[in-house]
Amino acid sequence: MKKALIAPSILSANFADIKSEIAIAKNAGADILHCDVMDGVFVPNITFGPKFIADIKKTTDLPLDVHLMIVKPEKYADAFIDAGADFLTLHYEATYLLLPTLEKIKKRGIKAGAVISPDTKVDVLRHCLTMCDIVLLMSVYPGFGGQKFIENSIYRLKELVSLVKEINPKCLIEIDGGVTLENATVIREAGADVIVAGNTFFTAKDKKEVVRIIKG
Ligand code: DX5
Ligand code: ZN
Repeated sequence: MKKALIAPSILSANFADIKSEIAIAKNAGADILHCDVMDGVFVPNITFGPKFIADIKKTTDLPLDVHLMIVKPEKYADAFIDAGADFLTLHYEATYLLLPTLEKIKKRGIKAGAVISPDTKVDVLRHCLTMCDIVLLMSVYPGFGGQKFIENSIYRLKELVSLVKEINPKCLIEIDGGVTLENATVIREAGADVIVAGNTFFTAKDKKEVVRIIKG
């Protein structure tokens, strides 16, 4: 079975000590750093904006995967690209301008992706998959780390795998929310390429072991 990439989510890190938290993630074998941007409107939580991403960028060579949980993400795409995002993903539910925004992100030379929340049908991604370098399937309701994995996400992941195979096999499939050492293997077997882990990663004593188990 192919290996997955692991993307620790800094939402579960100590923001006051972010530089060393990122160094710990890198040292443990993280492939990508997942950065959750929340506006308090699209989701009931607030995190950080482009300035924080720009500051992080100066501290690490890990690719930054910026997950926008904000309304009208088209307004801020340029700012996050300028800040140093390597992947920029936006929610299908948050914009009427998904396709043009994906196109704009790609034109600026970084990886673009669409995200769907747990209640959104996988098939809505059919029309935009050719514009995506990555698609992100939420396996919890967006907003907080440390939530329980929604079990039907495995079924949805398999649906997404066959859609991606049919339309754009080069597109990476990412899953986000509630990943544990117990469910990681099933998630990888279902076909995820990139696995986000917030709570499981940052609360673990042995982070190298978490990386080994999640990556497979
Ligand atoms: C939730 C965020 C996730 C979160 C995942 O809205 O998008 O990236 O950090 O955290 P865990 O892995 O703890 O569920
Ligand atoms: Zn996320």
